[in-house]
Amino acid sequence: MALVSALGLRHQPNAHARTGTIGPRQRAVLSPERFAAAKAEIASWPGYAPTPLFALDGLAAAAGLHSLWYKHEAGRFGIGSFKALGGAYAVCRLLKVELARQGIEASTADLVARKHADAVAAITVTCATDGNHGRSVAWGARMFGCACVIYIHKTVSVGRADAIAAFGAKVLRIDGNYDEAVRQAAVDAAANHWFVVSDTSYPGYMEVPRDVMQGYTVMAAEAFAQLPAGEIPTHIFLQGGVGGMAAAVAAQAWETWGASRPRIAVVEPETAACLSESAAAGHPVAVPGDLDTVMAGLACGEVSLLAWEILDEVADDFLIIPDSAAVAVMKLLAAGAGGDKPFVAGESAVAGLAGALAAEDAPEIAAKLGLDPNSKVLIFGSEGATDPETYAQLVGRTPEEVEA
Ligand SMILES: Cc1ncc(COP(=O)(O)O)c(C=O)c1O
Repeated sequence: MALVSALGLRHQPNAHARTGTIGPRQRAVLSPERFAAAKAEIASWPGYAPTPLFALDGLAAAAGLHSLWYKHEAGRFGIGSFKALGGAYAVCRLLKVELARQGIEASTADLVARKHADAVAAITVTCATDGNHGRSVAWGARMFGCACVIYIHKTVSVGRADAIAAFGAKVLRIDGNYDEAVRQAAVDAAANHWFVVSDTSYPGYMEVPRDVMQGYTVMAAEAFAQLPAGEIPTHIFLQGGVGGMAAAVAAQAWETWGASRPRIAVVEPETAACLSESAAAGHPVAVPGDLDTVMAGLACGEVSLLAWEILDEVADDFLIIPDSAAVAVMKLLAAGAGGDKPFVAGESAVAGLAGALAAEDAPEIAAKLGLDPNSKVLIFGSEGATDPETYAQLVGRTPEEVEA
């Protein structure tokens, strides 16, 4: 019996994907130089440690794959997701630039030690979030000492809102979807002289989201270094919201392995498949609606333009999955499928793996993806139980019970 049903799975090939090496279009967004800067900066923060890479040998065997590696981001800086690397890094960069404009040269250690406390406290950062990015920005604001206002949309859970407020940020809920929250944050920032630290880019707003994505490349580089010596995955399955994470990992893979890069598949919920729809159209398009999905971090209807600069040529495949596939994978991992050690993975963390396992149940799609018993699949498990209550409802056990 299939581990995850292919019911509702859809595949969209990308006609623009190309082989060969990374090009100027991608390097204009993310570069080895900016990666080195991000890595040095983030590694200097209190509490930095690489997250683990699990070899899920039991699940790989049960799924008919050669190897399955899972980068487990639940413990990232105590924030619960990989997003800790992006928003907080962008806050750090932004504060240094703004202070320099005021004639103050501040190092990260200066910020953490509150050396220029008054000048920093007078700066307010803001963003929209479906949970994790806002938590990262709020955490960065707390770490470096600036003020913070976070916009959430109608369906963000109370647990996620509370986690952001716990870092001292002001949390404002709007009566709309994620994309409307993005616009509200931009409008209010302009009126109040706040600084937008968004994880998505749009016309006229590119610098900060580029830093956010460059922060994510640190996660990718960690994972590649943790693979067994000499191993290159054949596939990477990446969940997509606005596309920033997928683009960052894919670009880092392309930089690392060049023409031998793995095949890249981007996986989205059926209610918020803006990346897949963009691939079908051949250019960025938005999807309307309330975008509601259990994969809360992926509930985005508009593509990040910077992410698209990368994904347009490196994302070979796009997959669309129903919520049921994500929940099935959360349960599989919580149960220790195939004899692997059970662990807690959040709703958005498992989308990439859900896409891969659902494809195993659809021979035609598996063949198009080139998935077979020789496949070595790398997954980025981008969050833990960032909303423990939702996790318990979906899995039937609390995160603590699963970890025990
Ligand atoms: C846990 C998790 N995974 C993946 C993503 C998708 O990232 P992106 O919006 O950069 O595509 C998000 C976004 O919030 C997230 O919270």
